[in-house]
Amino acid sequence: MTDVKQIVNLKFTLNGKAVEVDCEAEETLAEVLRDRLNLTGTKISCEVQVCGACTVLVDGLPVSSCTLLAYEARGKNVTSIEGLAKPDGTLHPIQQAFIDEFAFQCGFCTPGMILAAKALLDENPKPSRDEIVHFMDGNICRCTGYVPIVRAIQKVAGTLESKHHK
Ligand code: FES
Ligand code: FES
Repeated sequence: MTDVKQIVNLKFTLNGKAVEVDCEAEETLAEVLRDRLNLTGTKISCEVQVCGACTVLVDGLPVSSCTLLAYEARGKNVTSIEGLAKPDGTLHPIQQAFIDEFAFQCGFCTPGMILAAKALLDENPKPSRDEIVHFMDGNICRCTGYVPIVRAIQKVAGTLESKHHK
């Protein structure tokens, strides 16, 4: 018996632009972004909704795109890391803060971290350090660079004390 794949037509808004793509019904949003739309900034690692590497925003909320079926994004507003910088290349303040605070090593977790941080700051522009740590709990950095990541988010929130290494 041949394996017949069900193809679905998917329309959604991606980084502010309408997109339309055909994909298999069981494809995840991460796979569609990476393999069909060539946006490889979204990383896939654990594939079981544990590490946060694949985090994108769907209608402003952080989701693990490795387990969200792409068709569940129909009609929604999806933001991937490629949608944060301005068209002229100016980085989003969170991206700039990650650079300024050296908040990445290998960078594999970084797109997901930045999008999770965006969701937090959009909802709560001045989170406490504890609130940042709690909110970012679902994003794992295998290089264990958590201190500069938290500092970068504090910097954007305007709550970073100038003194390094307290
Ligand atoms: S790759 Fe999606 S949560 Fe780890
Ligand atoms: S910078 Fe390497 S996993 Fe976070």
